[in-house]
Amino acid sequence: RTPLHYGGPRSPALRMELHAVCNKARAGTLHLPHHSALTPMFMPVGTQASIKGLASFQLLEPSVDAQLILANTYHLALRPGGSVVRHHGGVHNFMNWPRAVLTDSGGFQMVSLLRFSTVTERGVHFQSPVDGTEMLLTPEKSIAIQNDIGADIIMALDDVVPATTTGPRVEEACHRTLRWIDRCDAAHARKNEQSLFGIVQGGLDSRLRHICCKGLIEKDLPGYAIGGLSGGEAKELFWTIVNQCTDVLPQNKPRYCMGVGYPEDLVVCVALGADMFDCVYPARTARFGTALVPSGLLKIRHASMAMDKRPIQHDCACHTCRNYCRAYLHLLTTKDGTVGAQLLTLHNIAYLTQLMKRTRQAIIDGSFEHFVQKFMLDLYPDKK
Ligand code: GUN
Ligand code: ZN
Repeated sequence: RTPLHYGGPRSPALRMELHAVCNKARAGTLHLPHHSALTPMFMPVGTQASIKGLASFQLLEPSVDAQLILANTYHLALRPGGSVVRHHGGVHNFMNWPRAVLTDSGGFQMVSLLRFSTVTERGVHFQSPVDGTEMLLTPEKSIAIQNDIGADIIMALDDVVPATTTGPRVEEACHRTLRWIDRCDAAHARKNEQSLFGIVQGGLDSRLRHICCKGLIEKDLPGYAIGGLSGGEAKELFWTIVNQCTDVLPQNKPRYCMGVGYPEDLVVCVALGADMFDCVYPARTARFGTALVPSGLLKIRHASMAMDKRPIQHDCACHTCRNYCRAYLHLLTTKDGTVGAQLLTLHNIAYLTQLMKRTRQAIIDGSFEHFVQKFMLDLYPDKK
């Protein structure tokens, strides 16, 4: 089987190489200006140009080996501002991060900062919850800021509604997202350095998802994201939508499931043909004293950890598991929050990047089905 390649006149800054497939699952390499990223991949989220609690060098340690990190347009526009990042030679230089970066457009902050935003055809209007600063984020403005920040992949501004919304608002968001993609593409001034991805919206309505997929595919973009998911809807509905989208999205281009980060969802969505994932979950749950392990969640603050000499996970190669026992982490997470949170964050991110690496290898080795079975049985042993 000859590997599929993508990289044409419409995507001078991206080339997708597929090494192996197993049914819909794919193992590949996404060649980007700053890094050739191994897919499928989990991308840690650094909203404010740092992963909460970690410095960029920690993401390069072999057990983490992050391929690409995320930054957020809205947060960077507020502080320090896109032009400041550009003044420092772009986000890679500013963060001293040598590998790939992706910026989200700010569309999602409509949902995460719901009480502080309103959307019209012109764009999204925000009032900062911190100091009341107002910002009208139009498609043109989002792209101009993302051009200043200089990430390898930039995202179109989309009209995002909470995952459980129904009715005419979902239809409006789907069609507005399609109208905005033209404004984003027209505003994109650095096509030789940055690849613009479109985002499929349409809630849990398969008719709208189909319309949105088809409309975006027509634009022949370098890559496609599936948005508006993982916001509290039933898993089967969410997985069904991903399956439907990956059935129609082009096989030779990257597919990115936005905001997806539970280990189980990563494995299922890889099986459904997705290549890229991001989520604040591993860092956020670490700050609440929870470690990700093959059997599920390990609550480090639980009294049973107080005397436990074992590492979080015996076969994890991360800095935390190589150097500290559960009892020490228990002490840190119950007393001094910051160091404990940092050590758990490192483990949790390593857990997800390693999970994707092992998934990729299984697809290449032809053992993906067995890999998924073992993963599910470790997680749900009583189903044996
Ligand atoms: N992050 C998680 N979900 C979404 C989404 O639907 N749109 C954008 N822009 N970012 C997201
Ligand atoms: Zn670990």
